Amino acid sequence: MKPTTIDDCKLIEIDQIGDRRGHISVVENNREVPFEVKRVYYLYDVPSGEERGGHAHKELQQLIVAVSGSFDIVVDDGTKKETFSLNRPNKGLYFPAGLWREINNFSSGAICLVLASHTYDENDYIRGYQDFISYKQR
Ligand code: TYD
Repeated sequence: MKPTTIDDCKLIEIDQIGDRRGHISVVENNREVPFEVKRVYYLYDVPSGEERGGHAHKELQQLIVAVSGSFDIVVDDGTKKETFSLNRPNKGLYFPAGLWREINNFSSGAICLVLASHTYDENDYIRGYQDFISYKQR
């Protein structure tokens, strides 16, 4: 069994610096995120009822933030499932490698910001659920 479980996911509170003009939140390498950020991407214009994700990664670690709106991340470690709801720009989900995830329940205008530990590599994906289960049992 590959060791990562849902318990390795962590909701991370990101400091808010604010005054009457609004707020700033900052994420720095090896501080708010326990890795070096090598890539940033974001999901937006997700139509109501659509689902993203539906895969796992072998090495990639991520911090996922709802910088606008809200959505749910359903995490599956091959044994159990848990849903994390993200709805604040100062709260992130640290997401280690080796977990299946689906992202759904996007609100209108939601933006899902992802800070990632590696550049894009299709070979790092496990895109089939049965492949994921086999990978965890190896
Ligand atoms: P994918 O990771 O499957 O999206 P999601 O998890 O949000 O459902 O990626 C969708 C498409 O975008 C796929 O064709 C690969 C491409 N892509 C890149 O080219 N670079 C990237 O950094 C990412 C995340 C995706």
